[in-house]
Amino acid sequence: MKQQLIDRYGAAVPRYTSYPTAPHFHSGITPKTYETWLQALPASSSLSLYLHVPFCQRMCWYCGCHTKITRRYEPISEYAKHLALEIGLVGDTLNNRQTVQHIHWGGGTPTILSADDFSVLMVRLRTQFRIAHNAEIAIEIDPCTMTRDLAVNLAKSGVNRASLGVQDFNSHVQKAINRSQTLEQTKAVVGWLRDAGIAHINLDLMYGLPNQSVADAVRTAEQSLSLRADRYSVFGYAHVPWMKKHQRRINETDLPSAAERMAQSQAIAKHLLGNGYSGVGLDHFARPNDAMSQALKAGKLHRNFQGYTTDSASALIGFGVSAIGRLPQGYVQNTSSARLYMTAITDGKLPTARGIALSAKDNLRRQIIERLMCDLSADLPDLCAQSATAIDQFAAELQHLKTMEADGLVSLNKGVICITHAGQPFVRSICAVFDQFLDSGKGHHSLAV
Ligand SMILES: C[S@@+](CC[C@H](N)C(=O)[O-])C[C@H]1O[C@@H](n2cnc3c(N)ncnc32)[C@H](O)[C@@H]1O
Ligand code: SF4
Repeated sequence: MKQQLIDRYGAAVPRYTSYPTAPHFHSGITPKTYETWLQALPASSSLSLYLHVPFCQRMCWYCGCHTKITRRYEPISEYAKHLALEIGLVGDTLNNRQTVQHIHWGGGTPTILSADDFSVLMVRLRTQFRIAHNAEIAIEIDPCTMTRDLAVNLAKSGVNRASLGVQDFNSHVQKAINRSQTLEQTKAVVGWLRDAGIAHINLDLMYGLPNQSVADAVRTAEQSLSLRADRYSVFGYAHVPWMKKHQRRINETDLPSAAERMAQSQAIAKHLLGNGYSGVGLDHFARPNDAMSQALKAGKLHRNFQGYTTDSASALIGFGVSAIGRLPQGYVQNTSSARLYMTAITDGKLPTARGIALSAKDNLRRQIIERLMCDLSADLPDLCAQSATAIDQFAAELQHLKTMEADGLVSLNKGVICITHAGQPFVRSICAVFDQFLDSGKGHHSLAV
């Protein structure tokens, strides 16, 4: 039966970190549109900031992020100067100085920035925005390129959460993905961060990697548990070599099948759940007293481009090459070309390249998909009532879900959709039922399972 379900529902679908998803963004959303949207943000809006640093010291072959290998520091310091200018540009465009509740440094590897450049950028953010005293300031870290001094500097600038990439600790898997990283190395970095006062630690694990078995995945989970992280993210390897050319170095015959991937993900989940962590959404695990577990319980978990988040800010502002922002009016994305980004910033222009405006109907679908991704359930009558929409708008979707109900993936009760245990590996396919853009032929996604 499991294989039949994989055949029926395991097709390529988006990860729904946004709706509509990024392939549907278009160039009709211009710097002028973004400027208008920013200026319309009321003083009472809460903000969240995302800063993208698209550089790394090494290329991991599985990597799906927007990044580039750089051995010299010069391009990185140039980039840091442009980021500072962009912060000024956006800050000056806003009509109000709204309060920032979350800052996320992502990449790439943001810790590739020198201690000085990082401090200067944090000061710039504090000058341009009002940062809440209890704001979450998070950063992604590659443990192999981290130092104790950098940890101290991050803490001094106010960083209070760090996400470390682990992926898999087995050397035969690491060899197949060009990433060597020991448990000891990772343990040392976690120790430096905690000593410096960065108390919140997240670890990223992966399944579906080349030459990875269920036993490998469980061994990695077991070893990672010795680091006592607050949260674990368990990502299924997204193999998209048509978009990420370096992934071609991964031998496709070494990749586990969809059934093996599912067994790996379930084995990791069983291990983390058995060791006191609570499941959050599709692929996160957190301590029961962690803010993410609490947000899930309160129905306040959200989804953004980093995955699940406790961030409930009304607007997300993205800085840097390819960064995506979300405003009440829609999504905006900066250009992905470093050259065009630098030119726009030097000319004093916002580097917006594309985006999409959200209609009231899109917004309702976005909420349904977000609730399904976060809570694994959605109260359709309630969500429709909140946006004054008649539920019969979704007659075709409910009909489609009935087939899924017959296959045991969901249960339907007066329009309330609950994803069953058997349906959990297919959450993305269930969300896809509400995706009006999916059939438009744009986007080429990774497998659902
Ligand atoms: C933006 S990366 C930054 C992490 C940091 N540079 C490092 O390597 O440790 C964040 C996480 O995305 C996940 N990731 C990267 N490429 C992926 C892919 N192709 N499929 C699924 N997850 C991926 C990895 O777990 C990684 O730790
Ligand atoms: S996984 Fe991290 S270190 Fe490796 S290439 Fe991607 S962003 Fe860089």
